Amino acid sequence: MLNPCDAAFLETLAGQLPPDTLREAAPRYLDEPRGRWQGQAGAVALPRTVEEVALILRACTAARVPVVPYGGGTGLVGGQVAPDGVCPLILSLERMAAIRALYPSENVLIAEAGVILADVQRAADDAGRLFALSLASEGSARIGGLLACNAGGVNVLRYGNARDQVLGLEAVLPDGRIWHGLKRLRKDNTGYDLRHLLIGSEGTLGVITAASLRLSPRPAEQGTALMVVPDPAAALRLLALAQAQLADGISAFELISGIGLDFLTQTMPQVRQPFAAAPEWMVLIDLGLPAGLKAEAALEALFIEAFARDLALDGVIAASLSQRAEFWAVRESIPEANRHIGAISSHDISLPLSEISGFIAKAGPELARINSYRINCFGHLGDGNLHYNVFPMPGRSRADHAAERDAIKTCVHDMVHALGGSVSAEHGIGRLKIRDLSTYGDPTKLAAMRAIKDALDPLGIMNPGAVLAETEMQRK
Ligand code: LAC
Ligand code: ZN
Repeated sequence: MLNPCDAAFLETLAGQLPPDTLREAAPRYLDEPRGRWQGQAGAVALPRTVEEVALILRACTAARVPVVPYGGGTGLVGGQVAPDGVCPLILSLERMAAIRALYPSENVLIAEAGVILADVQRAADDAGRLFALSLASEGSARIGGLLACNAGGVNVLRYGNARDQVLGLEAVLPDGRIWHGLKRLRKDNTGYDLRHLLIGSEGTLGVITAASLRLSPRPAEQGTALMVVPDPAAALRLLALAQAQLADGISAFELISGIGLDFLTQTMPQVRQPFAAAPEWMVLIDLGLPAGLKAEAALEALFIEAFARDLALDGVIAASLSQRAEFWAVRESIPEANRHIGAISSHDISLPLSEISGFIAKAGPELARINSYRINCFGHLGDGNLHYNVFPMPGRSRADHAAERDAIKTCVHDMVHALGGSVSAEHGIGRLKIRDLSTYGDPTKLAAMRAIKDALDPLGIMNPGAVLAETEMQRK
């Protein structure tokens, strides 16, 4: 049984904390990027130290008050808002925004949870290193939230997901105990890996307060190209060719569809597009090469070979840093263009690479049996991760299709599941995909997840209603 974050609780808590640690929750803590949910909160807590986080969680445990940990608020599955249930305390880590240490010779950086991703990238860069995690929201997403949600992004192909960038964590468990785990070790094989349990737990098992992060050597040469491809199957053959020529030099391989480019033209004409007529499919290829290799020449050689094999029909290679940024802006603006158009249903799926083109060929006709739609299929092709988003035809609105949303979702997710894919490749479960997790998740895994949740958070105070459905006992 949980109790609301009410005035009496806040008064007791305020008495234990420095002034101005608790505030009324401003509107930005209560909404989320897709505008699907409106959260509620008794207050927002803004601790400055791990000890204050511990004190807050101890108090929440004692009073059985739910807590929603909060990073940059950029999550796409509603994990950061509590629209219903017992009114929670929001715990924002934004004041814990120090880079505590940097060890260039070890390729390690220690950041507090509230550091914005772009600031970690900059600090690494200033030290001649690379912090490889990169995604469109890097100007506002914070390290703690990115790790709690095991974010993906555009460099997973080469460097892995958020969890692959983490050597150690400092975190607070729901009862207020602090785990001092900021190791800087590549090897530490000492039993259950609490680090990987907390990463991806979306604030349901504890609160990450700092992380020891893995840096990588900074590529000496970088380059970006856009290549028009005949279809997704050709795009995947192009990826294989690119990897045969350049191995790990390929740091991103992103699929962009003509529908996405149309959406950009319609809703964000200020974003410059390199091709006069929108191609049906294109890929963005990003290279990071060691000194001595020239990215532009490598991309040219790749294009010539791809063209000869009919894998590329046209292409442009960025001639300057600003042109690189322009190409990336095309890719990274597509989600915003999507929001302007208004998707009926958005999917974040992954598939074995060899199933991708068959899925794309089959899913459109399957959906057309429900109704006529426009599909913007784009994303991290190199990772087998597609953002497969379904939109109304011109002149119609998402509201016209609200009754079809469940059928669309089921159609897409059933196909993905049958092909051995995942219905949440990188965005997590949050509140949006709880039902999908219970429908498609392995029952043994789900039971183990429930047992872990009950062991670490027996009262169910941590982000109730995210990842796992609240049990009847917790609701009462
Ligand atoms: C992207 C987000 C939607 O890849 O994950 O743009
Ligand atoms: Zn993505």
